[in-house]
Amino acid sequence: MMAEPYRIKVIEPLQVLSRQEREKKIRQAHYNVFNVRSQDIYIDLLSDSGTGAMSQDQWAGIMLGDEAYANCRNFQNLEKAVNKIFGFKYFMPTHQGRAAENVLFSSIIKPGMVVPNNMHFDTTRANIIANGGIAMNFPCKEASRPFKNLPFKGNMGTKALRAFMSKNHEKVPLVMMTVTNNGGGGQPVSIKNIREAGRIAHEFGKPFFIDACRYAENSYFIKQREPGYKNKSPAEIAKEMFSYADGCTFSAKKDAIVNIGGILAMNSRSLFEKCRDRLILMEGFSTYGGLAGRDLEAMARGLFEGLDEAYLESRTGQTAYLASGLKEAGIPVVWPPGGHAVYIEAKSLFPQIPQGEFPAQALVIELYREAGIRSVEIGSIMFAEPDEHGKIHYPKLELTRLAIPRRVYTNSHMDVVIEAHKKILERKEKIRGYKIVKGEGPMRHFIAWLAPVK
Ligand SMILES: Cc1ncc(COP(=O)(O)O)c(C=O)c1O
Repeated sequence: MMAEPYRIKVIEPLQVLSRQEREKKIRQAHYNVFNVRSQDIYIDLLSDSGTGAMSQDQWAGIMLGDEAYANCRNFQNLEKAVNKIFGFKYFMPTHQGRAAENVLFSSIIKPGMVVPNNMHFDTTRANIIANGGIAMNFPCKEASRPFKNLPFKGNMGTKALRAFMSKNHEKVPLVMMTVTNNGGGGQPVSIKNIREAGRIAHEFGKPFFIDACRYAENSYFIKQREPGYKNKSPAEIAKEMFSYADGCTFSAKKDAIVNIGGILAMNSRSLFEKCRDRLILMEGFSTYGGLAGRDLEAMARGLFEGLDEAYLESRTGQTAYLASGLKEAGIPVVWPPGGHAVYIEAKSLFPQIPQGEFPAQALVIELYREAGIRSVEIGSIMFAEPDEHGKIHYPKLELTRLAIPRRVYTNSHMDVVIEAHKKILERKEKIRGYKIVKGEGPMRHFIAWLAPVK
């Protein structure tokens, strides 16, 4: 067994508030952890996005920032890294993933068009809606079986995709695939499924784009779980994955281990030109895309670090450590664990709380109360939607996500998280649900105010 392939050089102190103080803070935050101040959190598992610790090499790169307006050295370094790793003909930096999504969708979607995906994440779905489109999910059947031990539950349901495309392809501007599948338990997608989904898109003459946020973790899972890939490096697997696609959106805040940054890449010259014009309008010139030269340099260096096999082993190992500890304690953990987060199925944990009273959010709040841990709801606050008759459609899974920042916490922190869950289990029957008192729309989870149901 191997420990982390790095050691700690700089530390950031944490404070632990008393239970009474935490009780007050969560009430003042209207039971929405996005409103809690960072200094009032002990262990922050809200997101793995932009929360990673950069390496000495990345920090050294920050000092080499070339802040020329156009075509700075750092852009050229990033270009080399992107060409080597992703292999698309054209790319542009963006300030983060959702900016890449908006630039792409505003260039390609017309009102009423439908974008299929294995599962859109919240910002992807919201950017499609904001540009007049419809976001549709085609998860594989196994995606809704949270405890079934299968290797690639992030896969696209390719039969359903093909059936949909044969009837509706005229309304589809592109097909997308999210790796790993963040909305669906952080589960990986197999190469076979990526190849097949790309083939279907191409059969109908549509471009196939990968939402590549966690492409390195996905590549590592392919290496471990897909026959024929054991002896390939994560970089080789990633290259093959991208070879089936026509482009990608990428939030570098995940697998490039930077605090800010993103990429939009594609093979089509005409699409690139359209997107470049939108980028200049919305983000900045096409060689900096809303970032400083120093950010581009950190991204160029982080891209390689995120693909390092020893790092990926320790990263996925830490997630598995937390997931196994919780499972042993009797917590209903989505299984097998994904790469960046542990997901808990809260309907099974709190059967007394109806889905309309947000059981996953109830766990989020209990974790803060119990130990100052911040997690996030990926359930009905985020995804429940009314149809045109006002009937609410709830997501199949009601998840609480514990997202692990990269290279930030030790397994002792993970032990604290496991202990907090054990304490919550002791009083689980007494826990009640919540109602929304303010906030609506597809982004309501960020801003809603909640109150306990009496
Ligand atoms: C799958 C997926 N796509 C897109 C995004 C958006 O990236 P960003 O937060 O950099 O805008 C995220 C962020 O969490 C994500 O997980």
